Amino acid sequence: MASTTPSLPHLPDEIHPHQEQPDDSHHQPNENEPLLGRPGDAIQRPNAPMHRNLYLGTGILAQTGLLLLLLTISIPLLTHRPLPPLLTPHPLLQLTALLVLTEAILLLQPTTKSLPAAKTRAAKYHALLQLLSLLLFVSGTAIIETNKHANKLPHFHSAHAYFGVATVSLLAVQYLFGFTIYLTPSVWGGGDKAKKMWKWHRYLGYGVLLLVLATTGSAAWTEYVDAQLGVSKVGVVLGLVLVAGGVFPRIQLGKLGLREY
Ligand code: HEM
Repeated sequence: MASTTPSLPHLPDEIHPHQEQPDDSHHQPNENEPLLGRPGDAIQRPNAPMHRNLYLGTGILAQTGLLLLLLTISIPLLTHRPLPPLLTPHPLLQLTALLVLTEAILLLQPTTKSLPAAKTRAAKYHALLQLLSLLLFVSGTAIIETNKHANKLPHFHSAHAYFGVATVSLLAVQYLFGFTIYLTPSVWGGGDKAKKMWKWHRYLGYGVLLLVLATTGSAAWTEYVDAQLGVSKVGVVLGLVLVAGGVFPRIQLGKLGLREY
């Protein structure tokens, strides 16, 4: 029987913006299928502005979680007296780094190979934001280590310290991995071989994000943040859950090699 739907331009791996969502009973695996939700739920549409990627689908949960984390930690931190000059900047720099890192992921996640110009543009901004997050993480770590050195404080004094050192080490690997695939693909054998590494960059990236979230959470149990600042653990944990709950369901299975891409 002839279809009553007007013919649509061919978009190979894109849900057409004006097309009705498919009926679940006829659901076919699709490379744009997110980890949770329906195909196309968090996919950048043709002509949609890039900033929409930041809150598309469950992205809005991640933005809410980031705001909650910033407020829950920075208000008690900045209203507490005295403000230790080598300690106060550490949480502020690391939280800003987490914010920038998460925005960099959210910006790129909804892109697809069927909109190559939009994908290339988002990848450029992803790299720039990650460069900024790297500088923030390095500054935040340098200041806390300076604090330890200046005040002759012991290293590995808490679970947070172990998490922190593990996170910083894995972040260094991931930055090196991403920047070399992007800027010097010849290091990975050039062209197509380098392109195949993106899948592993994504796996490692999501793993590192989990570790960064765990490290931020563990900070709420340090003696300073818990006993002296009285930061709400409920606020911190809720913020972290919202960030994870906003980012992870948007993962496109095709980009992880779990569907054809
Ligand atoms: C993902 C982000 C973070 C990373 C990678 C990180 C990393 C680190 C590192 C490497 C240390 C020193 C470890 C040592 O030399 O033994 C440290 C200590 C510390 N951090 Fe963080 N941190 C992060 C977020 C935060 C946040 C958000 C807060 C506050 C809410 C915080 C509060 C502290 C405090 C109070 C210390 C000193 C206490 C201790 O060493 O046990 N950190 N952090």
